[in-house]
Amino acid sequence: MSKHNLLEGIDLSKLPKHVGIIMDGNGRWAKKRGLPRYEGHKEGLKALERILDFNLIIRIPYLTVYAFSRENWQRDKREIEELMSLAKHLINDKFSYFTQKGIRFLHLGETDMVDEEILKSIKELEEATKGGEIYTLCVAFNYSGRYEIVSAVKKMYEDVKQGFLSVESISEETLKKYLYHPDLPDIDLVIRTSGEQRISNFMLWRVAYSELYFTEVLWPDFKEEDFVRAIKEYQARERRFGKA
Ligand code: FPP
Repeated sequence: MSKHNLLEGIDLSKLPKHVGIIMDGNGRWAKKRGLPRYEGHKEGLKALERILDFNLIIRIPYLTVYAFSRENWQRDKREIEELMSLAKHLINDKFSYFTQKGIRFLHLGETDMVDEEILKSIKELEEATKGGEIYTLCVAFNYSGRYEIVSAVKKMYEDVKQGFLSVESISEETLKKYLYHPDLPDIDLVIRTSGEQRISNFMLWRVAYSELYFTEVLWPDFKEEDFVRAIKEYQARERRFGKA
């Protein structure tokens, strides 16, 4: 079946503007097959590539994927190295894919603890794709939602101290400006795979009014059809943002 046929039944005029994906279940996918965890992450990267390709057709304007949290540094050294090597693959080997397809690449997260070589490649990729108009891919990497808010508060405090900002003028809009990439809209829909039903420190500020979609599918098995199912479910829901 052509990937375009999958769009049947989706109201393209009412797509979520920003979808966040918590790609969970790589380890369990591997364990079920008696494989090392790395094989699960490798298949997880392929699943991500499938969704990136498919988004060239469906065109959700902003896609944010949770690739590596600050908590993930507590995993064993070998698994961390393997995840870093997959990150390098995504950033380096797909460089021309992102530039040619018109995908703007953004990193969300801190730079501490991350290998200098990876940081340099991220900067180059962000620079090379900054004019990308088809969609924006944000990769949450060395990311923690609480840390993002704490670091915003620290930056804001500096501006108050320097006299650029008065305490009385601080509003939600002000704080938003100190988050990573303030131009990003709130997340409309969060998809989490593998049956876990948690937010796990993902994009805390921007998920305040998100619709949450949980599926039992393990991330490496996640296909275009599953993505479409989540979008359709989102479109069937009524969003009230606290109003009656
Ligand atoms: C969660 O599965 C997944 C991750 C911590 C990493 C997500 C990574 C990818 C999809 C591959 C691409 C990687 C990068 C860095 C770009 P889990 O390992 O927690 O699975 P489990 O809960 O079944 O053990």
